[in-house]
Amino acid sequence: MTFEEAKKKLEQYGQEHVLKYYDSLTDAEKENLITQIDETDFSVLSNISTFGKAEGRGQFAPLAAMELSEIEEKKDHFYEIGMKALEEGKAAALLLAGGMGTRLGSDAPKGTYDIGITRPVYIFQRQIENLLEVVSGCKQYPRLFIMTSEKNNDATVAFLTEHEFFGYPKERIAFFKQDMAPACDDNGKVYMEEKGRIATSPNGNAGWYQSLVKAGLDKVIADEKIEWINVFAVDNVLQRILDPVFIGATLEAAVSVGAKVVRKAAPDEKVGTICLEDGKPSIVEYYELSEEMMNEKNEKGDPAYNFGVILNYLFHLPELTEFAQKGTMLHVVRKKIPYMNEQGEFIKPESENGFKFEQLVLDMIHQLTSCLPYEVVREREFAPIKNKTGIDSVESARELCKKNGIEL
Ligand code: UTP
Repeated sequence: MTFEEAKKKLEQYGQEHVLKYYDSLTDAEKENLITQIDETDFSVLSNISTFGKAEGRGQFAPLAAMELSEIEEKKDHFYEIGMKALEEGKAAALLLAGGMGTRLGSDAPKGTYDIGITRPVYIFQRQIENLLEVVSGCKQYPRLFIMTSEKNNDATVAFLTEHEFFGYPKERIAFFKQDMAPACDDNGKVYMEEKGRIATSPNGNAGWYQSLVKAGLDKVIADEKIEWINVFAVDNVLQRILDPVFIGATLEAAVSVGAKVVRKAAPDEKVGTICLEDGKPSIVEYYELSEEMMNEKNEKGDPAYNFGVILNYLFHLPELTEFAQKGTMLHVVRKKIPYMNEQGEFIKPESENGFKFEQLVLDMIHQLTSCLPYEVVREREFAPIKNKTGIDSVESARELCKKNGIEL
C-alpha cells in the first residue's frame, strides 16, 4: 500500500489522525504504520453504535445435560472410547492464551501469573500439569496448540521455554498468533499507542480456527488426522483437559461439540447458560434469562436452564461450519485502553475509556448442529482466575486448589 492509498483508506473511515506524526517517523516506522493501516479492518468501528443494545435473539428452549450420575454409570465405557481416540491421535488440545487479562491487572501474559504461596505455581504450569495428569495413561502425548497474540506471544514462548514447558514435550506443542482488531475511543476514533502505531487488541477467542489455518497448522491437523479439538481457557486452573471420559461421551453422542458445564449455584447466577435457540445449541447470558425461564422446571423437577458453560469445549472439526470457521458476530466491549494523548504522552487509564471488538467462542456454538452439555463437579473443575480478589479471583482459585489437594 502506498502513502496515498493509506490516506484514502483512513479518510473513508474518518481516521486521518493516524497520520498526524507520519512526517516525524523513521523510514522503518513509516513502513510499519502503512502496513498496519493496510492490514487493519476499520469497518468494525461502526459497530460501536450497537454497544449496550440487546442483540435480537431467537426462541430459547432447554437443552438437557448429561449429568454426573449417568457419567458415573458409563464411566469405564466412555473412558475406553476416549482413550482409544487419544491413542490414535484423533484428539488435540488448544489453549486459548491470547487474551489481555486486563481484569487481573498484570502486563505479563496471564499464564505466567504465579498463584503459589510457599512455592511458585504458575497458571500455565497448572494447565500443563492438568493435561499431563489426564493423559498419563496414554501412549503418546497429544498435540497441544497454544494461541497467543501479537501482544503476548514472545513473552509466552520465552516463559514456557525457560520453564521447559513444565514437562510437556516441546515437539508436541505448536504456537500460533490470533488476529488483532483496532481499539477506539467513545467517538469511534482509533487510539494510537505510539506515534507510528495504532492501538490494537486481540480480536476475541472465536478467531482460533481461522488463525490456526492462517498459521498453516491445518496441515498438521490433516497430516496427523486430528478430528477433535479440546479448546480451553487459560484461566481455569482446575479443569481437566482432554479428559478421556468427556471425549468418550462426546464421541458416543455423535455431536458437533461437547461442552463441559457446571450446575448453576442459583437460577440467576452470572454465567452463560447452555440451551437451544431456534433448535440449535446456544448460550444465553444471565441477563437475557427471563423470569419465566428461570422458574421453568424439567421432568425431574430441576430448573430447566440449570447448567453454565466453563469455556472447555470439544469441537468436531469436520462439523465446523464455514461461518463458525470464519468467526462469528462481533461483540463491542468497553475496556481500559492504553493510548498516546494529544501531547504525545503515553496514558494508562484507570477506568474504561473506549471500545474493543471481539468474537466469542460461545457464538461459535450456535453455528453448530448439535451439542452435548457434559456436567463436571464444580469444586473439582472450575476455578477461573479473572480478578485479583473476590469472585473468580486468585484468592478463590487458591482456596479451590487447596480443597483439591494442590500444594501452593
Ligand atoms: P476473557 O474473556 O476472560 O478475557 O478470556 P481476558 O482477555 O483473558 O481477560 P480480561 O477480560 O481482559 O480481564 C477467556 C479466555 O479466552 C482467551 C483468554 O486468554 C482466556 O483464556 N482469549 C480472550 C483469547 O485467547 N483471545 C482473546 O482475544 C480474548
